[in-house]
Amino acid sequence: MAYQNLLIEDGAGVRRITINRPDKLNALNSATIAELAAAFTAAGSDASVRVVVLTGSGQKAFVAGADISEFATLPPAEALKFSRAGQQMMRGVERLGKPVIAELNGFALGGGLEIAMACTLRIAADTAKMGQPEVNLGVMPGFGGTQRLLRLAGRGAALELCLLGHNITAQRAFELGIVTRVVPAAELRAETDKLAAQLAASAPHALRGIIDAVVLGGDAPIDIGLDYESQGFAVCVSTEDMREGTKAFLEKRKPSFVGK
Ligand code: COA
Repeated sequence: MAYQNLLIEDGAGVRRITINRPDKLNALNSATIAELAAAFTAAGSDASVRVVVLTGSGQKAFVAGADISEFATLPPAEALKFSRAGQQMMRGVERLGKPVIAELNGFALGGGLEIAMACTLRIAADTAKMGQPEVNLGVMPGFGGTQRLLRLAGRGAALELCLLGHNITAQRAFELGIVTRVVPAAELRAETDKLAAQLAASAPHALRGIIDAVVLGGDAPIDIGLDYESQGFAVCVSTEDMREGTKAFLEKRKPSFVGK
């Protein structure tokens, strides 16, 4: 499928999706949200894609938020649709069942931080800035920011970032548990590629089980979460990859996982 606002690159099990509106700092308008939903659905159903990397084009921004020029004029019923479309697309990212790495190359603000938090892992350039600045525009986060910040970094950080609307550095985001890893800007691409290659070589059923258990189990009572874990474990034990992983260990060699 051809996209107007996304660039897609494939290589060795890794699909790189680049949001490509650099003149608008990759702001998420409705068209881009719809394209992202389609691109993630396609990545989810393509067995050759083991990992997805999401980034923004240009040097300056990952994503500088929802497109302000678009939502500023929406009547409430349309705003509800806009918010739900963004939330639904991001939930699809979170529930893809494959690792999605957000490569934060610059500003990750508002909807930018929200989609990054829906990704499985976040790697940030040391020059990147994060924040939920919606309050400065007289609105509040609408793509899951209040809920995912709460879950990733706790109530104190969620309230601080959303109420005060200031930007924080990548290092501070790391300290708060929002970002998985911070690297020098010049090394961002190489470090992302390394992380993606590691995950692409890993056992897909095990990765899916872990993601589902953490994402679904994390929002459920512990007995339900533990049950997800047991069921996922049982699925893994029935895979060829598990036989390969245990055999490779005993034969003192690297396993070769095929996703079966
Ligand atoms: N929505 C729509 N357009 C946006 C945007 C957004 N969220 N963020 C940036 N842009 C546009 C600007 O309007 C500008 O367009 P123009 O050249 O047609 O005027 C272009 O992107 C470049 O942005 P600019 O503000 O000139 O860059 P800067 O380096 O001076 O500032 C930011 C960078 C990120 C600090 C600033 O763009 C900003 O505060 N953006 C909004 C962040 C925000 O509030 N996000 C949450 C939205 S809910």
